[in-house]
Amino acid sequence: MIKILTIVGARPQFIKAAPVSRAIIEHNKTATEDHQLQEIILHSGQHFDKNMSEVFFNELNIPAPQYNLGIQGGSHGSMTGRMLEKIEAVLLKETPDLVIVYGDTNTTLAGALAASKMNIKIAHIEAGLRSWNRQMPEEINRILTDHLSYILFCPTFQAVENLKKEGIQKNVIHSGDVMFDAALLAADLADKHNSILKTTGLQPREYFLATLHRAENTDNETRLRSILSALNKLSLQKPVVLPVHPRTIKKIKAFGLESLTANLKMMAPVSFLEMVALEKSAAIILTDSGGVQKEAYFHGIPCITLRDETEWIETVETGWNTLAGCDVNQILEASKKRSQGTPIHEYGTGTASRKIIKILNAKLFLSEP
Ligand code: UD1
Ligand code: UDP
Repeated sequence: MIKILTIVGARPQFIKAAPVSRAIIEHNKTATEDHQLQEIILHSGQHFDKNMSEVFFNELNIPAPQYNLGIQGGSHGSMTGRMLEKIEAVLLKETPDLVIVYGDTNTTLAGALAASKMNIKIAHIEAGLRSWNRQMPEEINRILTDHLSYILFCPTFQAVENLKKEGIQKNVIHSGDVMFDAALLAADLADKHNSILKTTGLQPREYFLATLHRAENTDNETRLRSILSALNKLSLQKPVVLPVHPRTIKKIKAFGLESLTANLKMMAPVSFLEMVALEKSAAIILTDSGGVQKEAYFHGIPCITLRDETEWIETVETGWNTLAGCDVNQILEASKKRSQGTPIHEYGTGTASRKIIKILNAKLFLSEP
């Protein structure tokens, strides 16, 4: 029996962990007793509202976390430090053989730091991504986590290359993207769950879907004002649906930008299945989210990224995604482009999670270095 401690805390991590947990359960169905994998889930508490956390566990049948540390808010250092201390206590108690961390949040870094200081092996899922912008807290989190990890599962070939440039080549695996697995898992369910279009009075292809939460956009009044102005202008063409992240709503109020949102169809964050339903029927998706950029591609919807760079460069190169930053004219210009791009094969075929579990199982049981 191998003991795995999965560390999650933020919305996208619940979604990424869902297919991987499912793959562990599938593995255990056929594995002999001594090859069973025991997964323990630790939730840092970083995201805590019901519709930012619990809803994903329920909807995606993710096993309930055995630990919820209840740590949220404060500065980056404070949040990461408090998590580090409490995660270490859990590691001391559980002594897992492996820790799995996802993506690039403060929870990811705290988990990786805690495990590495106890010489516990770390698997980083969604390794190797780079924006080359060290102003982003996520860039610091992902660089450090990659350098601490024992095994690195990359969603793209570019991610493998990025790690190579930083001298990381051992145990680097191109696994494909677990978010594609999650999208497939949700697609059928979301079809049965598309009442959100009816309840919001939306017609397929007759609305724009937007999400906005990156600190670089929300915490900068000029950028936030500019993006909201662009969405406001777009709402003259078609309704703009904006499920609002808690960070963003706080900043809209703090900067007094409510008048720019008066014409938008704002709503509280929606569940994953509702989000997929909204994505699949949108005319265009406008976002600064990493996950949503790819989901736009998975569902064949043109995307405008409200950032100056992206870690998911293949979405731009294949013509699915346009980088428009926060400039009103660039966003409006990009919104005229409705053509589809070419296929992206490197995200895999929806089996990244199974591949990851298969490789981890082999490595851990053979005690490969
Ligand atoms: C975090 C991640 C970001 C990721 C995003 C996913 C870091 C540095 N950032 O950003 O990489 O893209 O999650 O959504 O880890 N809040 C609530 N309720 C909640 C969750 C958050 O009110 O359920 C509030 C917090 O109290 C805080 C603000 O929203 O005031 C931001 O939350 P935080 O977790 O610090 O960062 P995110 O912007 O969510
Ligand atoms: N998402 C959701 N409800 C929402 C907004 C987003 O379920 O109201 C999902 C979205 O479909 C994607 C994930 O959250 O799977 C992306 O998370 P987020 O944008 O918070 O973070 P990022 O991917 O940028 O790190």
